[in-house]
Amino acid sequence: MRVLSGIQPTGRPHWGNYFGAIRQYIDLQGEQASYYFIANLHALTTVRDSKLLARYTLDAAIDLLALGLDPTQATLFVQSAVPEVSELCWLLLTGAPMGLLERCHAYKDKKAKGLPADAGLFTYPVLMAADILAYDSDTVPVGDDQIQHIEVCRDLASSFNHHFGQVFVMPKAKILDASAKVPGTDGEKMSKSYNNTLEIFEDPKAQRKKIMRITTDSRPMEEPKDPLGDHLFQLYSLVATTDEREAMAALYRRGGFGYGEVKKALADAAERYFSEARTRRAELAAQPDRIHHILADGAARARQQAGQVLARAKKACGLI
Ligand code: ADP
Ligand code: TRP
Repeated sequence: MRVLSGIQPTGRPHWGNYFGAIRQYIDLQGEQASYYFIANLHALTTVRDSKLLARYTLDAAIDLLALGLDPTQATLFVQSAVPEVSELCWLLLTGAPMGLLERCHAYKDKKAKGLPADAGLFTYPVLMAADILAYDSDTVPVGDDQIQHIEVCRDLASSFNHHFGQVFVMPKAKILDASAKVPGTDGEKMSKSYNNTLEIFEDPKAQRKKIMRITTDSRPMEEPKDPLGDHLFQLYSLVATTDEREAMAALYRRGGFGYGEVKKALADAAERYFSEARTRRAELAAQPDRIHHILADGAARARQQAGQVLARAKKACGLI
C-alpha cells in the first residue's frame, strides 16, 4: 500500500483527533510507502492569523512525532513545501465541473447559512485531490467526514485519465474505524467547535479539572448502570488497560458508586496513557533545528515523488 493523509493545523489536537484519526494513520506508517503532511494550505482557508498558522503548523509536526510518527518509516512534511502540488492543482482545476464542487458539503453548508465563501473553500477538494494524486497514493485513511472529498478526487482522476491517458493512480479511502467516535466532555461528539475537548497535550492539572466537570446524569448512586451507553465510561475505555476497563464495567453494572470516582480514575488513566508522549513532546519542542531538519528532509523526498507525477501529468496534457 502507498498511504497518504493530511492533517489540518487548525488548533491543539484532542482525543477525538488522536483515537479517531492520528493513531490509525500512525499504525499504517510501516507500509510500502507512507506520506503524512500538515495541510497548511488548506488551513489557510480558515486560519487567517499568520503567527498562529505558523505556530500550529510546527506544533502539529511536533505532536505527530511525539505520538509515534517515525520519520525513518514515513515521509513527514508541510504541504506548502511541495509547490508541485499547487501546480498539479491547476491542471485538475481546469477539468473540475462547477456542479461537482457546488455539491461539496463544506462549501454548500457555508452557503446555505448565508456566510461568505471564497474560492479557496470552493476549490478545497481539488487541492486535496492534488495532494493525493501527487504521490501515486492508493490508500487514503480518513474519517467519514472526508469520504466525499475522496470521491471528488477519484472523479477528477478518472476524467483526467480518460481525457489524457493513464496518468494518475486511482486512490481508495480507508475509512477509519467509525466506532472510534470520541464523545466530548458534554457527551456530544468531541470537536473544537463545540468547546468540549480534552486535549492530548494539555497540562495534566488543567485536564483533571476539566474531567471533574464532565457532565453526568443524576441517577442515584446505588442504581446499576449500563457502562456502554455512558460517555464517561467510553472516555475511560480509551485510556484504561483492559483489566481496568473490565473492573470499571463491573462496577457500573453493580451500581453503588459515584461518578466522582470514575472521573478520578479517568484523570489518572489519561495522565498515564499520554505521559510518554508528553515527555517526548517536551524533548522535541526543545530541539527546533531537529524538527526543521525532519520536515526539510521529508519535503525533499515528497518533492521528488510529486515532481515525477507532475511531469507525467504535464506531458500528458501537452504542457511542454
Ligand atoms: P474538529 O471537529 O475538532 O474541528 P477536525 O475536523 O479537525 O476536528 O478533525 C480532524 C479529523 O479527526 C477528522 O477527520 C476525524 O477523522 C477525526 N475526529 C475529529 N473529532 C473526532 C471525534 N470526536 N471522534 C472521532 N474522530 C474524530
Ligand atoms: N481535508 C482533510 C481534513 O480536514 C485534510 C487533508 C488535506 C487531507 N489534504 C488531504 C486528508 C489529503 C487526506 C488526503 O481532515
